[in-house]
Amino acid sequence: MIYQLPTLETERLTLRPPTEADIRPYQRMFRNKGFTQHTTITPRLILNMIKWNQKKRSFCWSVVERETDTLIGAIRINEFSLRSSCCDLGYELDCDYWGRGFMSEALRAVVDFAHNTLDFNRMEAYTFPGNPGSDGILLKNGFRLEGVEREKMSFRGKKVDTRLFGRLKRDALTLA
Ligand SMILES: CC(C)(COP(=O)(O)OP(=O)(O)OC[C@H]1O[C@@H](n2cnc3c(N)ncnc32)[C@H](O)[C@@H]1OP(=O)(O)O)[C@@H](O)C(=O)NCCC(=O)NCCS
Repeated sequence: MIYQLPTLETERLTLRPPTEADIRPYQRMFRNKGFTQHTTITPRLILNMIKWNQKKRSFCWSVVERETDTLIGAIRINEFSLRSSCCDLGYELDCDYWGRGFMSEALRAVVDFAHNTLDFNRMEAYTFPGNPGSDGILLKNGFRLEGVEREKMSFRGKKVDTRLFGRLKRDALTLA
């Protein structure tokens, strides 16, 4: 595979590689406690996204609302295995923009890129229990809940289950 990170356009969004100008607006999203309630992300993630892209080990995008040119979140293919034709995803959206289908729209573009441009057969994502918004966008975009991995991770000093979602190239785009 020749690594290329394109800008992806959707109806309302531009998904483009993150830059240093995104660092402060991204870090501001962490002021709202709801943002990190169900995820291990830290404000450093945006810097890591820039580095991982440079090293060509991930595909990371800043999610920009095109009409206002505002950074509203991020989405990424965190890791991938060419041997297994498999990759895993992460995403987060500024709380002020929840409930309007923005991340679902971004996810649809990344699913299309991963399956049809990169030709990955399988995509994975996991959620913690109690994050119905994240479960919802995965189910809406053709991911299936494949199982619950009991006490797979430590999160804020507790052992927590992870809900594993998977999607194959041959799965229909919308199942739920
Ligand atoms: C996960 C996240 C991106 C979802 O964004 P969102 O804007 O809330 O998503 P949407 O509004 O498009 O909702 C997705 C779907 O989830 C479902 N949903 C949302 N909230 C729900 C709730 N409280 N109960 C049941 N279903 C719910 C709905 O079916 C909705 O689909 P609809 O458009 O058909 O109504 C956002 O909540 C977020 O950034 N959270 C913080 C970071 C995070 O948790 N990232 C994921 C880690 S796994």
